[in-house]
Amino acid sequence: MERETILEVRNATKTFGATKALVDVNFRVERGTIHSLVGRNGAGKSTLVNVIAGVIKADRGIVIFDGMDVSGMSLKERQSLGIRLVTQHASIVPDLDVAENISMGLWARNRLGMIDWKRMHERAREVMDEFGLDVDTRRSVRHLTPVDQRKVNIIRALFGGGKFIILDEPTTSLSSEDRDNLFEFVHRQAEKGITFILISHYLEEILRVSDEITTVRDGFVFSNLKGDANTHDKLARIIAGEDVELVSRDPDKPRATEPLLECREVSATFLKPTSTKVYKGEIVGYVGFPGSGAREICTMLYGLNKIQGGDVLVEGNPVNIRRAGDALKYGICYVPNDRHADGIVGIMPIDENIGLSILRGKLKSFFGLLNLDKERSIAASSVEMLKIKTSSTRALANSLSGGNQQKVVLAKVLACNPRLLILDEPTIGIDIKSREEIIGLIKDLTRDGMSVIYLTNDYDELLRIADRVVIFNDGSIVGEMENKNLTPETIIAIRDKNERVAAE
Ligand SMILES: Nc1ncnc2c1ncn2[C@@H]1O[C@H](COP(=O)(O)OP(=O)(O)OP(=O)(O)O)[C@@H](O)[C@H]1O
Ligand SMILES: [Mg+2]
Repeated sequence: MERETILEVRNATKTFGATKALVDVNFRVERGTIHSLVGRNGAGKSTLVNVIAGVIKADRGIVIFDGMDVSGMSLKERQSLGIRLVTQHASIVPDLDVAENISMGLWARNRLGMIDWKRMHERAREVMDEFGLDVDTRRSVRHLTPVDQRKVNIIRALFGGGKFIILDEPTTSLSSEDRDNLFEFVHRQAEKGITFILISHYLEEILRVSDEITTVRDGFVFSNLKGDANTHDKLARIIAGEDVELVSRDPDKPRATEPLLECREVSATFLKPTSTKVYKGEIVGYVGFPGSGAREICTMLYGLNKIQGGDVLVEGNPVNIRRAGDALKYGICYVPNDRHADGIVGIMPIDENIGLSILRGKLKSFFGLLNLDKERSIAASSVEMLKIKTSSTRALANSLSGGNQQKVVLAKVLACNPRLLILDEPTIGIDIKSREEIIGLIKDLTRDGMSVIYLTNDYDELLRIADRVVIFNDGSIVGEMENKNLTPETIIAIRDKNERVAAE
């Protein structure tokens, strides 16, 4: 069956200063399909969808939607035609309830012009039933599971006539089961005739759910790759322009036996009294839902979550970590998963962002003045080591693509030479090639004795890198074992059984 084109971009070019983000791009999407965009960090994917949605204007070229040239239209005007852009940091308001979030800006009003709450909840219920989301419309969004939050976001885009939905990395930081669940949901909407553009770095899901795949590389677009890119490795090769070798754990790595850090019956918000150790030179993977204790113990070790009881020991000595500065003194560094919340300062240059964490330490010269040359040289070597794509280390962090901002966060922490590096979902939004480079780098650093806590819900990645796995549920450790013969399924089974499995 001949499909109908719903969107066409013709000869779009966009430059930011010296950066050519889009170069004479031609791109076409058929109605009722899921069309994926893949490419390395900084390739131009977000720029392309921003041009389509009307967030930014291309320097040249036109956008045709439903047979109409929309190039001159604003974001709002394009929204009224049904184009919606849903980004990872999209606009849900955690403290509002589900119905309020879904109807935002389109609130039902009564004859007096006042908001008709009852009608609003009824309409939200209708649309949620239609799209298959079974949660109470009066619950505040904060209390939904991460996957239901993403669904609320998408339903909100569909509400009020959205028919062309752009999802820019919708599944980052969801577990593999939740990702499947979300895509089942997206698929059902596509069957009803809704069109999706999907941007993601998870190639398995791209291959599974897409009707068509388009690759973006350095601002150039290669279309219709589905036929040639039908396996993970082939698609990875097209994206990276070279073979991508997956890093895996060295099976002969000796078991680490010397503890660096010990928690004795520590408790905090969402964490019941818990004892566990981190050994020198090991990578220990932490797994668990939000609120399970996995992230909470990490933030506690960095002084962000107040310790309520028990002891933390570093090299056998009790330590008192009340704030991040205390943790840094013991060589404990933490990389948050939300770079926007506490990772980087967008309006500061890259080099100053990297320097931020070490200001008090290495960078101060004898008179307490900042050594700017040193800051710049550390920044320059990090940019090179992590292959951060930028025109200059003086560029503002805001001007980087999402994945490259994530690398700046990592660079900032590595500049402190940590003894214990706590990584909270470090490869979120990182492209396939860079992801392997970062995992390889972390692996190398542990060879020199650094210890790592690797918090993730990506079980495939976890099992490729962790020496040991610690599984949390409901504020407690429910499994702690060597990474031997483990599969994602065993991890899920242990997590959900909620019984403590003896450490090997
Ligand atoms: N507002 C801006 N100012 C300056 N440069 C920008 C701006 N927005 C994007 N760029 C640059 O344009 C290029 C393309 O960025 P874009 O965000 O489209 O990449 P992406 O493919 O979405 O990458 P990622 O996978 O990391 O999200 C990058 O080099 C980026 O640094
Ligand atoms: Mg992007």
